[in-house]
Amino acid sequence: MSDADAGNWRALNRAKWDERVAVHLKPTGYDLGPLRAGRGRLNPVEEAEIGEVKGLRVLHLQCHFGADTLSLAQRGATAVGLDFSGAAIDAARTLAGELGLSDRARFVQADLYDAPTVLAEPASFDLVYTSWGVTCWLPDIRRWAEIVAHFLKPGGRFYYADAHPAAYVFDDLAKDSDGRPGYFAPYFERRPIVMDDHKDYADPSAHLANATSVEWLHPLSDIVGGLIDAGLVLDWLHEHAQVPWRMFEMLVQKDDGDWHWPDKQWLPLAVSLQARRPS
Ligand SMILES: C[S@@+](CC[C@H](N)C(=O)[O-])C[C@H]1O[C@@H](n2cnc3c(N)ncnc32)[C@H](O)[C@@H]1O
Repeated sequence: MSDADAGNWRALNRAKWDERVAVHLKPTGYDLGPLRAGRGRLNPVEEAEIGEVKGLRVLHLQCHFGADTLSLAQRGATAVGLDFSGAAIDAARTLAGELGLSDRARFVQADLYDAPTVLAEPASFDLVYTSWGVTCWLPDIRRWAEIVAHFLKPGGRFYYADAHPAAYVFDDLAKDSDGRPGYFAPYFERRPIVMDDHKDYADPSAHLANATSVEWLHPLSDIVGGLIDAGLVLDWLHEHAQVPWRMFEMLVQKDDGDWHWPDKQWLPLAVSLQARRPS
């Protein structure tokens, strides 16, 4: 690992995400068909868990180019999406305009850690929402949890779904002799992980010029403990043997669109939770 790369995490990661936006907007990227038809769908795990959003004021952290934010707006939420990628926020605003949702969905370009300064709306959201490949980009998980709590109304809830940190221990970059993902990142190490990977999770044909990224593996107890220490009360936590992207080559895609283990359910692949700010 290069310490210089790790110290440069924000610029490296933003360059990679800026480049990914164009990749994801191509026909080989995200399927925007249902959203454009007025029936945007979230991933099946979220669909089963997120509940009614009609009439809610929602803050979507790390919203990428806003596909999920706009799905919630189509269901009657009023949403604010925040992401540090300028390309993502430009695309989100364009998409909102095309879908006639600019009055229900507003997009803000800002680093997650700057959100309390940039969005002068503390304690004003009924639902703070973030999902799929989000906490791995954040160095300070305790501060993330404080920011989530900062924006929730008393009685408001936080919904989170992401890859399970135990699954991040393994990677195809460290494949073992029988082709299974091998040990890659120690669960409790907490040091930045510098990755060099030209591939994209949504478009296997893409070759990213900005290959280097800096990521973190946050143990589940840091994520949940951070939320509890920030004053939230855990409603529930679920572990799942499925994930929305092909996290390991050996996973198989099922009819629900998610990627599952082909045989035994070796490890949880995803985790989701709901926590609430007390009234
Ligand atoms: C995997 S995407 C989130 C997935 C999203 N639900 C989707 O539409 O697929 C991760 C997002 O986090 C954003 N991001 C990464 N680090 C960030 C930071 N420090 N502040 C704000 N956004 C960040 C990236 O720009 C990217 O859009």
